[in-house]
Order: sequence, then structure tokens, then C-alpha cells
Amino acid sequence: MKFGYFDDASREYVITRPDTPLPWINYLGCEAYYGIISNTAGGYSFYRDARLRRLTRYRHNNAPLDYGGRYLFVRDNGPGVPPERLYWSPTWMPTRRALEDYTCRHGLGYTVIQSTFNGITVGARYFVPLGENLEIWQTQITNHRAETASISLFSCIEFCLWDAWDDATNYQRNYSTGQVEIVDDVIYHKTEYRERRNHFAYFACSEPLAGYDTQREAFLGPYRGWHEPLAVERGESGNSVAHGWQPIGSHHVRLTLQPGEARAVIFVLGYHENPKSEKFDPPDSQTINKRTVKPIIAKYLQTENVESAFQQLRDSWGGLLGIYQVESPDEHTNRMVNIWNAYQCMVTFNLSRSASYFESGIGRGLGFRDSNQDLLGFVHLVPERARQRLLDLAATQLETGGAYHQYQPLTKRGNNDVGGNFNDDPLWLILAVSAYVKETGDWSVLDERVPYDNRPGSETPLYEHLQRCVRYTLERLGPHGLPLIGRADWNDCLNLNCFSDAPGESFQTTANKDGRTAESVFIAGMFVLAAREMAALAKCKGEDGEAERCRAAARQVEATVREHGWDGEWFLRAYDDFGRKVGSRDCEEGQIFIEPQGFCILAGIGLDDGRAKRALASVKERLATPHGIILQQPAYSRYYLHLGEISSYPPGYKENAGVFCHTNPWIMIAEAMIGNGDQAHDYYLHINPSAREAISEVHRCEPYVYAQMIAGRNAANYGEAKNSWLTGTAAWNYVAITQWILGLRPTLDGLAIDPCIPNGWEGFRVTRKFRGATYQIEVKNPNRVYRGVKSVRVDGREIASAVLPVLGDEQTHVVEVVMG
Ligand code: BGC
Ligand code: NOJ
Repeated sequence: MKFGYFDDASREYVITRPDTPLPWINYLGCEAYYGIISNTAGGYSFYRDARLRRLTRYRHNNAPLDYGGRYLFVRDNGPGVPPERLYWSPTWMPTRRALEDYTCRHGLGYTVIQSTFNGITVGARYFVPLGENLEIWQTQITNHRAETASISLFSCIEFCLWDAWDDATNYQRNYSTGQVEIVDDVIYHKTEYRERRNHFAYFACSEPLAGYDTQREAFLGPYRGWHEPLAVERGESGNSVAHGWQPIGSHHVRLTLQPGEARAVIFVLGYHENPKSEKFDPPDSQTINKRTVKPIIAKYLQTENVESAFQQLRDSWGGLLGIYQVESPDEHTNRMVNIWNAYQCMVTFNLSRSASYFESGIGRGLGFRDSNQDLLGFVHLVPERARQRLLDLAATQLETGGAYHQYQPLTKRGNNDVGGNFNDDPLWLILAVSAYVKETGDWSVLDERVPYDNRPGSETPLYEHLQRCVRYTLERLGPHGLPLIGRADWNDCLNLNCFSDAPGESFQTTANKDGRTAESVFIAGMFVLAAREMAALAKCKGEDGEAERCRAAARQVEATVREHGWDGEWFLRAYDDFGRKVGSRDCEEGQIFIEPQGFCILAGIGLDDGRAKRALASVKERLATPHGIILQQPAYSRYYLHLGEISSYPPGYKENAGVFCHTNPWIMIAEAMIGNGDQAHDYYLHINPSAREAISEVHRCEPYVYAQMIAGRNAANYGEAKNSWLTGTAAWNYVAITQWILGLRPTLDGLAIDPCIPNGWEGFRVTRKFRGATYQIEVKNPNRVYRGVKSVRVDGREIASAVLPVLGDEQTHVVEVVMG
């Protein structure tokens, strides 16, 4: 069952009924100012950091779900209107009056919600103009009645008092601190501006106001909810001025519309900073200096400026997506690669795991491991931003080569509460830097001087940071010569040194063991891959000694995996603190894990001796399901002290035998590496959101983006997705489909062409912009093979290898590839 449809030509998903199984959200903004918006206008906004600079309030896990957002209310001021038709929300929530013609169009960086009620159509387009710290609600109200309509339009948002954690907990203080100013019909939220903050929010409207409210209770009425605001019911704002309690922003505009008449009303909600020395005007007053913000407000209350800002946003996305466009025989592939997967990669790059409908914005900042992986799917879109991110991440690395597991986006400082010792973390930096250099050819990044733990004076070239990443693993090998796992590896929940029996204790930061025994085969595989990437970087830099050392280390760890990391039919997962196997047929539960099958093969282990094929056959037999590949089987049926959080989840959920989508593309890539094009693409389709659209009532999350998890077959809700949007699934699926299945892979030397496709495909076309040239590539598959390139012609001339040379001439080149 579907709740909407893809409009690919407009690059939108169109939701046709408001009661989707879960709120289906979108993101506004892509630089500094961000908003989350659901299909019924729920959500909130923040500047850079969802915890520290929250503009509007949002209560997660509320009932009804998704209650609070960017709300509009329309009131019919005509005579004799019955109470059930007196007022409504054109976005359905919060009044939930039955609407006609409801549609929500989620586009790239914008959302348009439109509906009709009793002959009045209201459309609202929400977006953040590029380069601005504000959001626009561009509304249009049309009277389709045969007679004149007299209506009131109310806007409403609830301000957050900046620090979202404090805002949600510290009421003894924050019920007394709220402050606003209302000047020239603009509502300014200035809580704490009087003391150490130099920033404020503003909420403006293009039309003269009939009234306003800034105190929540005055607007809603005592003991009332958002679905029945007293001010709306009465058709009169309270003109309230908030002192403490809950500051809000609400405008009231009265409109008289002739039959057929349409009117535009624009609302602007923004964030603004003043220089510390110019906070007040006059200087010795407590009044916000508005000189710096007024021109911005004035600009975006003009329809023509709003239209051109919207066009710029559309054009910008057109340009970004133009970097990789595919026409293949499969519409789900095309739609995800050309539009939604790339878009989700941008969102995950921007926000890591911080703010979604499953991430509260106050829990986690940017993850070291997460951000390095997010970059893999983003680097071709805006390489300059990827470069900066690499330097920021490296600056949270420690001198030991280890890394803070997370850092706060506003301060860019490592998070001490979580600390480090996740022993896979540093290796991700090598993969990310290598991906950046392959995409851009920008070797200078390796010479950038970057501090450790942000400590001035500790700077070394980024290249040395990478060397320390390699050493970090080699200095931490366990009894079998495999890497020690530390707190956890990629699987945050495989906590082999934790041994926690205290309720509520953090699995990820508790360590009751010395950490000298438990080892990870996953990290071993990852190390082999990363050390070989490092060797390639070193070689190109002319550091032959270093290159050989890395290759030797990779060989050594690879040999250890063959000896101690192979279970007979698949790669083992780990050794626990007692030196016993995890992920082995000898185990009672948790016999086979997906991660080492993926990463050992990605590293090339087992490609030459049949083990890769054997391991992939085991994955297919034991882990593959119609809803994707499960993380591990059999699920843990009880809590195991020595395994940690993984066994804390009920069977079938999350790391305990859920389909953890992030890991599926590793298997797709591995299948592509062994040349199994049907299987690689089949796995791809099983978790492809567009391909799952038809079962939206089962999947329940948005059909246009990946979710972190789909409940596995041991779960009661088998097939139900959770944790949509912010997941490494986005980047890895993008890598799997674009680089391994379609097979256009940036390398240090150029763009390699190595497709591995279903043999039913006659071929496909890709346009790829790469290092300053555009390649229009047509791949033909006359012999219907899975893999293998017979010939490549560039601009009519055959080239010897299947790696497109770097032309960098800003021209378009025609590339003909024949498989066979
Ligand atoms: C989740 C993991 C996540 C970790 C991070 C766990 O509860 O299951 O997926 O990585 O928390 O804190
Ligand atoms: C989600 C976390 O963000 C990621 O870092 C981790 O690798 C996976 N969960 C698996 O535990």
C-alpha cells in the first residue's frame, strides 16, 4: 500500500494523505540553518547545532505523535459558520480536520503542503534560502467559493530557549528567563540576549497584523492544546508579551478574498547574531540592535526575492545532482541514484546522527566513524566541504592515533563524556581521506597541518595523522594477532569488555575488563583495506618505505585472518574476553555475523582461495531475507554479560538480528567483487526505499530515504523500518550502486569503469562529472555478462585500460564501453 507517489520530473515525493504510518519528514537548509519538517508541518529548526542553538521547541515521543511545528490556522470569519468548520489547519495537524485535496510535496531542501477546506485552498512552501540563516513559509490563500470570503490566518511556532537539553529539563530557571520584543510587527525572541548571548530569533510577516501573541498560554488558552487555540477560536489575538514561561511567535492576518482571488502571505523565521559590542540600540539600553537584521527581513518579505531564492535552491540541486546521473533499465536504481540517495547523503553529511525523528538532537553530536563514512557518499557533491570536514575530524584525533568517538558541531571539540577507545574509529579516517583524494586529486590535503585534540602547537601534516591511525591498530593486537576491539568496533553494541550488570549503565562507556583479550575480525578486515589504501597514498607521495611497511602490515593481518579469523564456512566475528569465538558455528546463538563477511572481502581476503564465495554463500543461506540481509543469526534470545548491548535488544531488532541496512551494501560490493551482478543488484533492491514503496504499510518509514534498520525475521514486526534518514546506509548504498554495480569508481589515477550488473541489462548510461570534465558514458552489454569490460572508447578513440584518464578540460567527453 502506498501513501503517495514519486514525481521524478519534479524531484519530489508527493504524499497524498496526511495520516502516513509515521511522520514522513524532510530537511530544510543545508549549510548552517536547518529545519526538520514533517508531512503535517511538524518539526523544529536550529542553527548549526540541534542541541546548543535550537530555535523552536519540539517534544519527541509526544502523543499524538508529531505534535508541534510550523503551524498555520485558518479561521472563517463569515457569518453563521458552524463550529466544526470555524477553523482548521491547512497542514492537517494540529486540528486534524478532514481536508480535501491534501498533498505534501517533499523536495530537495523544501516542502510544500497544500490543501482545501470549505472552498479555501492554502498552500505553504517552506524552505531555507542558500546562504541565509532563515526559513521562509511562502503561503498562498485562494478563495474558490462563489462568494467573498473573510478569513483570518494565524501562524504559530514555539520558541526553544536555545539549549535544547536545558530547555527540556531546567524549568526552575527557564520559566523565568523568556523575553521577547515586538517591533514593527516583527516578533523577536531574545531570551538570554541580555546576558551572554549575542544572538536572537525573529519571526516576521509580510502583511499588516491584526494582532499577535508571544505568550503560549495567551494564544492557546489555559489547559488547551495546539489543536484548539483560544485566539483562533475567538478570531482575536491576545497581543500578549511573554515574560518568562513559554515564549511563542504568532501572527494574525485578516484577509478578505473575492471569489477566485488568491493572496500571498510570507512568513520569515530566522536566526541572527550581532557583534558583541553592538548588541543594543541605543547602546546603553536593553533593546536589540535591529539595524543589521532589518535589511534581511525586508528582503525576504518580498515575493520576487523569495521566488528567486527558491529558484536558486532548485538550480543548486540541479547542479549537484548533475554530477552523477544514470539511466538504467531499473527505475528504482535511477530514482535513488539520481535524486534521493544523493540527497540523503547530503543530509547525513550535514547532520551525522544528531537530529531526526529518531535522534533527539541532544544526544549525539557528529560521530567520528559516522562522519567519515557519510563523506564517502558526499565527497563528489561538494568536495570543499568534505575537505574541511576531514580536517575537523582529524583535529579530534588524539596523539595516540585514537580518536574521540564524537564531537559537537558548534564547538568542534571532542566529547569527553563518550571519550574514545572504539578501536575501529581511526581507520575510517584513512578510508575517507583516500576517497577524497581519489575524487579530487587534491594531494595538498595530506600536507595540511592539523592539531591533535584541538591543542595548538600539536599540529602535524594530515598524512602523519593517517600514519598514526595505522600504528594505532598495530600497537593494539591481541592474543591471536588480531586487532583488539576496545569498547566496540563498527558494531557499537558488541561490547566485549563491558560486562555490565548495573541497570542503565552505558554499554559504550563502561569497561570492566582490561581490554587485552577481546579481538575483532571486523577490524582486522578493515585494517587490511585501510593499510592498502594508505600504501597507495604513500606510494604516490613517493614514500616507498612507508608504502612497503603498510603492505607488509596488511599481509601480516591478512594471514592472521586466514589462520584465526575463518570459521570453515564464513569469517568469524570476534574473540571474547575469555578468548572464545564469537560468530562461529560453535556458538549456541550468534553463529554468523554479516560485518566480517563484508569487510574481509572488501579488503580482498578470500578472493583468491574461494573463501569469499563460500562466505557469501553462507550469507545468502543464513542471513538473506526478503526484507534485506540480517546482521546476525541466530538472534540472541537472552542477555549475555560478555557480549553487551547487542544482546540487550529483543531478537530481531537493531544489532540483535535486525536488518541493519548499513551493512547490506558491503555484501553487495562483495558480490560485485566476485562478479555476481544479479545477486549484488538483488540485494540492492531488497532494501531500496523506492522498491519498498509498495509495502509502505509494512515498512512504515519514508519510501524516499533509507532507514537504519528493518526489523528482522525474529521480530514481531518483521519488515518494519526504524531510524530513517540519519544512517551510514545512505553513503554505503550510494557507493555500492554507483561505484561497484554501475561500477564507475574514482581511483588515484582516474575514473575506473568496472560495472557488475544484472545480466538481463542491455546496458546503461551515466553522466559523471569528475575532476573538471564531464563524461557521457554509454555502457553496452551485448553478450549479457555480469562483469568485464572489453573495450572503452573516449571521443571515438579506443583506450588501453578501463580507467578514464583525468582530462580536466571542462569539456564533455563521449565514452563508449562494451562489456563482454
Ligand atoms: C544503538 C547503536 C548505536 C549506539 C550509539 C546503540 O543503542 O543500537 O546502533 O550506534 O547506540 O550510541
Ligand atoms: C549506529 C552508529 O551511529 C554507528 O556508528 C554504528 O556503527 C552502528 N550504529 C552499528 O552499531
